[in-house]
Amino acid sequence: MKQQLIQLEINNQLYEIPVTPRDLLVDVIRKKVGITGTKKGCGEGDCGACTVLMDGAPVLSCLTLAITCQGRKIITIEGLADEQGALHPIQQSFLDHGAVQCGFCTPGMILTTKALLDKNPHPDQTSIKRGIAGNICRCTGYKKIVEAIGAAADRIATREVK
Ligand code: FES
Ligand code: FES
Repeated sequence: MKQQLIQLEINNQLYEIPVTPRDLLVDVIRKKVGITGTKKGCGEGDCGACTVLMDGAPVLSCLTLAITCQGRKIITIEGLADEQGALHPIQQSFLDHGAVQCGFCTPGMILTTKALLDKNPHPDQTSIKRGIAGNICRCTGYKKIVEAIGAAADRIATREVK
């Protein structure tokens, strides 16, 4: 199938990538660019594992055609650490609270959390649960994830780190 060049900014780096009209964003990021933190779970929009941020908003990269993303800014889990490699406060909170087991849901869960806290820096438990409702975790039972997100909000507020 004929390929077309698109430009994507991924984690603050510009890429020119040949894509077909059928290529999914998740496959382009993982296979063509080689950034593999984004996970492909169900491939049908049900689990949230493939969540990335596009211009700051969470999108399901398994349902997004790459060709429609010309010029967009994508952040994957690899783009959250700071320039020195220090983990983002959300990542650190997930580790500190045992909110990660197999880790398959974690990149999508953390990026969804980032978008949630950007919009609502002090979410209550109900808002947190609603915010991550589209992200399925098969391991943790969610309690620790909800605690980690609350702690991340506090950590961000105290450190004034976004
Ligand atoms: S892999 Fe995209 S929602 Fe499950
Ligand atoms: S930690 Fe295993 S699916 Fe969430």
